[in-house]
Amino acid sequence: MSAPLYEGKAKIVYATDDPQVYRTYFKDDATAFNAQKRGQISGKGAINCAVSSYLFRVLAQAGVTNHFIEQISEREMRVQAVEIVPLEVVVRNLAAGSLCKQTGIAEGTAIAPPLVEFYLKDDALGDPLLTPDRLRLLQVATEAEVQHLQGAALQVNTLLQAFFNRCGITLVDFKLEFGRDRQGQILLADEISPDTCRLWDQQETDPEKRILDKDRFRRDLGNVEAAYARVLELVTQQAEL
Ligand code: C5P
Repeated sequence: MSAPLYEGKAKIVYATDDPQVYRTYFKDDATAFNAQKRGQISGKGAINCAVSSYLFRVLAQAGVTNHFIEQISEREMRVQAVEIVPLEVVVRNLAAGSLCKQTGIAEGTAIAPPLVEFYLKDDALGDPLLTPDRLRLLQVATEAEVQHLQGAALQVNTLLQAFFNRCGITLVDFKLEFGRDRQGQILLADEISPDTCRLWDQQETDPEKRILDKDRFRRDLGNVEAAYARVLELVTQQAEL
């Protein structure tokens, strides 16, 4: 096996014989609060690989260019080689997480129109939320690219919200990452999974039981594996319809 090009908290990226293609491997490792909390969620890598593969295909069918090529094993996918833009683009439909903590807005409050936020992807700095001026100052993306990221994030939100609704899941919020290919074209990249989305089961009214995402790990709510497996089951059923 070739040496990793990059090892992140949840995935490992490898080069392949084709310079235009990378292979990503999904780990069971889980981190939260900028890696201050660490653990393992057994079977998570395989679930996140499968969920991401489904969602990238759903998005591609709707015209959202993304890095996904194919799933090649339980935990691996082939993707277009991109250089990740060091921004985390978060879209919020309902208030949760850091938005509640930083603004006092009650959890579950509808956010309409959805909020798009840019965070600097930098673990050492704790992934700070950027203002538009700081975004311009840092020059990690051109103004045109930022506009494109904002539009693409909202388009992904519309498509994923509709898809998850059909699964009986509310898409509360999520984080996207994008990359540039060798031609400089921006592609949606990374993963879209219960690690990177807040997902609430519409069948459940209990505010803790309805959580099907990494908040179960962050908040020590238990049944983390079962929640991830439920997401895969609902997504698979819907994707095969
Ligand atoms: O923590 P916060 O409320 O800002 O997270 C918003 C969304 O972005 C959540 O769905 C969370 O899982 C995701 N996120 C992520 N990776 C990060 C930060 C947030 O996937 N580094």
